[in-house]
Parts: sequence; structure tokens; C-alpha cells
Amino acid sequence: MTLPVFQKHDKPVVLAPMAGVSDSVFRRICVEHGCDFTYTEMVSAKGLLYGGRKTRELLRISPGELPCAVQLFGSDPEIVADMVKMIADECPDVSMIDVNMGCPMPKITGNGEGSALMRDVPRAAAVMSAAVSASRLPVSCKFRKGWDDSSVNAVEFARAMEESGASLLTVHGRTRAQFYHGPADREIIARAVQAVSIPVLGNGDIFSADDAEEMLEKTGCAGIMVARGAEGDPFIFDEIRARLDGAEYTPPADFERMNEAIRHAEGFLAEKDPRLFPELRKHMSWYSKGMRGAIEFRRAVNTARSPQELLDLIYAFRDSLI
Ligand SMILES: Cc1cc2nc3c(=O)[nH]c(=O)nc-3n(C[C@H](O)[C@H](O)[C@H](O)COP(=O)(O)O)c2cc1C
Repeated sequence: MTLPVFQKHDKPVVLAPMAGVSDSVFRRICVEHGCDFTYTEMVSAKGLLYGGRKTRELLRISPGELPCAVQLFGSDPEIVADMVKMIADECPDVSMIDVNMGCPMPKITGNGEGSALMRDVPRAAAVMSAAVSASRLPVSCKFRKGWDDSSVNAVEFARAMEESGASLLTVHGRTRAQFYHGPADREIIARAVQAVSIPVLGNGDIFSADDAEEMLEKTGCAGIMVARGAEGDPFIFDEIRARLDGAEYTPPADFERMNEAIRHAEGFLAEKDPRLFPELRKHMSWYSKGMRGAIEFRRAVNTARSPQELLDLIYAFRDSLI
């Protein structure tokens, strides 16, 4: 059976799960730009169990963003298994379940979740086995190089996940101690690729088609995952796909980029609670990066007091670029 992540291309280019960034609206835009596969923002298994409305909303997937995986985090095998089963039963559009074993945030690792599982391989394996047994869907896992430089264990961890039934792995070439700093290590990804027979996606520092090609060449990975490189730049998927297909690519003009920003803002305001409009500020800052007048635009956006005022500023900025 072909994994859903490989249904469109044999070297898929996927959008990373990013809490606070990769919501349904942004995922849809990325798919329109050639992204092959998406992930929800990370969802707490415990939060789902205890019925938080906000947590449940993270499971909403719209048809335009398929195929999409739900990413869960948790360290209790039984709770993770129950939530995997619930998602597989109640969310018909989900294509895969991914288990987060890479999140570095202290409020997550402090509970033994996210990248803390890399320090407890037996528990990580128990979580993965339980998720696989409970799921009718393929289960994957995303993790890091290791906890810190003195405990680099991505290779051993990859083997343990494969043995526990994972169908796909994503390796982020940084340790937990690095958070998002310093270069992502390609070598450790290459070693994980060699160590297992299931596909591995390479993740870390893909900001251009050159980076994507380099990741594929240096690691032999089965596909690549783009995270911060997509922030304010869904066009990165067009660029990478063109390069992988050997096609011509013409970068968009700045006003075209801002047209996409407008679609993003309008989609967000239509689908989410408009009172959340301040969440759009960071996206607008990313879209406008390096453009003429961007500093003034950002300043104005950061003080906008209503969704309409924010939209008017984006329209005016876009028009100033034509
Ligand atoms: C704002 C932000 C939110 C993130 N949220 C998640 C998440 O929910 N789940 C996850 O597995 N990784 C998360 N990550 C990590 C990314 O998926 C990715 O592994 C990391 O940014 C490295 O890729 P990059 O160097 O291309 O940015 C997040 C990263 C950022 C910057």
C-alpha cells in the first residue's frame, strides 16, 4: 500500500506541523502551492481525552488540504491509543497519525512528552506500539537528533520506532538542547535513513530549492519537510517542486505574494473567531519581509485594532506594490 504522503510524488515535499502557524487555512494555501502532504498543529492526547473545545478544533481538516495527518503528543500509551482510535473513527478525512517525539518546549518535556521521549526509548516504543495497535491508519513519528550532544540517539531511536510498527519517520537534525538554533545536521539524518527500511523524511533548514536538493542528495531521505521556510512563503513549495521536476520557475512579484497574504487573512477571518485577528500579525510580518515599505506596514499592522482595519492595511500595502 502506498502511504498517503507519497500519493502525489515519490519525493514528497510536506508542510511541517507548526503550533500556532500550520492551521487549516495555511495548510490549504500550501497545498494549492504544490505541498504534497500536511500535518495539523500538535494536539495533546490528554487535552483530547479531557474534552477541551480548543484542542478538538485543532482536529478540523478541510477538503482542500488533503492528504493531512493529525499530530498527537502524549507519553501515556493507553491515552495515546484511545485518542488514536477516536481520531481514526471520528475524523474520516485524516490520512495518518503522527506522534510528536521532538517538541523541545519545557511545558511539554516537563510532562515526559515531546522530545523527552527520546530519553526514555522503552516508553517511546510503548507509545508507538500502542498507537499502531489502535489505529486503522498508518502511524508515523517525528523526532530529533537526540536530547543533547552527549545523548545523540536518532539512529537507535529510528530502529526502535520501526520495530514498534511506525510506517514513516521524520528526523529533525537538531538536538532538543538546540531548540531551533544552529545548523540542522544532515549526517544524522543520513544515518537514520540507512538504519531502517521504512521511509524517512528529512527536516531542518529547508529555505530554498537548493536546500531541498541538498537534503535529498546528502541524506538519501525519501522526502522533505519544510517548516520555517514556509512561514509567509507558501511559494516555496512551487519553487521546490519545479526544481525536483526540472521545470522552469519564476518567483512571484511582491504584490503577488501580498495577494496570497490577503487570501490567508480573509480565509482566517472567515473560518476562525475574528477576535483572534492579532494572530495574523506574525504572518503579515513574514509575508512582507524584505519588501519596500515593509517596516511601516508591520508597525501599522501591529497596532491595528480590528479585523477590518488589518485587512484595509494589507490591501493598501498590496496596492502600493503594484
Ligand atoms: C512556530 C513553530 C511551531 C512548531 N510546532 C511544532 C509542532 O506542533 N509539532 C512538531 O512536531 N514540530 C513543531 N515545530 C518544529 C518544526 O516542525 C520543525 O521540526 C523545525 O522548525 C525544524 O525545521 P526548520 O529548520 O525547517 O524550521 C515547530 C516549529 C516552529 C518554528
